[in-house]
Amino acid sequence: MHFYGTTGVNKKGHLEIGGADAVDLAETFGTPLYVYDVALIRERAQGFKQAFEEQNVKAQVAYASKAFSAVAMVQLAEEEGLSLDVVSGGELFTALTAGFPREKIHFHGNNKSREELEMAIDSGIGCIVVDNFYEIELLKSISMEKQPNEMNVLLRVTPGIEAHTHDYILTGQEDSKFGFDLQNGQAEKALMEVLDSPYFNVQGLHCHIGSQIFETTGFLLAAQKIVEKLAEWKNKFGFEAQVLNLGGGFGIRYTKEDEPIPPSQYVSEIIKEVKSLNEQYSLAMPEIWIEPGRSLVGDAGITLYKTGSSKDVPGIRRYLAVDGGMSDNIRPALYQAKYEAVLANKPLAKADDTVSIAGKCCESGDMLIWDLPLPNPEDEDILAVFCTGAYGYSMANNYNRLPRPAVVFVENGTAALVVKRETYDDLLRLDLPLK
Ligand code: LLP
Repeated sequence: MHFYGTTGVNKKGHLEIGGADAVDLAETFGTPLYVYDVALIRERAQGFKQAFEEQNVKAQVAYASKAFSAVAMVQLAEEEGLSLDVVSGGELFTALTAGFPREKIHFHGNNKSREELEMAIDSGIGCIVVDNFYEIELLKSISMEKQPNEMNVLLRVTPGIEAHTHDYILTGQEDSKFGFDLQNGQAEKALMEVLDSPYFNVQGLHCHIGSQIFETTGFLLAAQKIVEKLAEWKNKFGFEAQVLNLGGGFGIRYTKEDEPIPPSQYVSEIIKEVKSLNEQYSLAMPEIWIEPGRSLVGDAGITLYKTGSSKDVPGIRRYLAVDGGMSDNIRPALYQAKYEAVLANKPLAKADDTVSIAGKCCESGDMLIWDLPLPNPEDEDILAVFCTGAYGYSMANNYNRLPRPAVVFVENGTAALVVKRETYDDLLRLDLPLK
């Protein structure tokens, strides 16, 4: 069994996370329960930051809050000196409510509404990552009305890179809904528009080539295409980028089939490439910004479930159902994502059975793990599914009117509830009667 961060087995023979007994956590806070190992999030954040510091490169490491946005999480990101990437009015509101430093907030999105952009401008956030021509027009029109200070913007470009990952999470390729195409002249046209307008301070370029990427090649290629273009633009317009944002997407280990490289390696290879490209084209070294989401919080999250009914299909398989499913983790249904799990009440017991973990939603596709080796399960075991910290809670939903689980942060043996469990009343909060 592979344990992450502070996760291990305690004297009682139970799974322990951040010094807290997972079985006790399940009892105290109920199940399903998302549990975060705070020390591991801190370690990951420091890993990225130190890799830049060691090489004396000006940088911002922005937490992509779409991976898991909640007030306490945003506050933890602030404690660790991260910047913050938000992608909607809701994520921005969370960040503002959490008191996150506004100048370190970056706003993304391929269809930001006028209201969202006004909110971003009114609250004075650090930078808007402009995605398309429609947005440029919206920003101009808002600026004409409000006459705010010059807005810091990055232009999001698609460099034409295909990262090796699941098709649905490819974003840097030419045929993408995101950003200005770097090769066909769109990016250049966008640059001219924003440079010509008095409302924008163009800090540089942004790209994001995909998610759960295990190689550095894609990042290096993207950097290469962008710096080549920047060299061209310096000659043509005298434009020099102060910032090169290479997005997120650094892969993590969900199962033994995944072999990620350490964050420091992504960073050092990216720095090396950007330095050498800038020397080659005689450009000043820009600040490098990155936006990890999954790799900051993914393996720090564990979901605890209570096991319930089981069903044998003789000669085929045994289904074991838990008290959650695609409502708290839609990734297996959406991406065929794979996970590892143990019984938190006996993580070291011999796995002499094989079961398939079913969710409780009315949908055959609601399966969390196929063919999981487990000790013979008994009534009401606690199943701990590893690596659910990214895109678990943030993609949770109320299908079948299941209330969303609570979220607990554990550190040094102390557990803090950071998101309450939804109640049935919460589910009906917005409903109005027929008459
Ligand atoms: N920056 C931008 C502009 C992004 O679009 C994303 C993710 C990130 C950063 C962070 O990427 P990360 O480091 O977390 O890979 N729901 C999918 C992942 C979608 C990612 C969307 N964009 C999943 O569960 O795998």
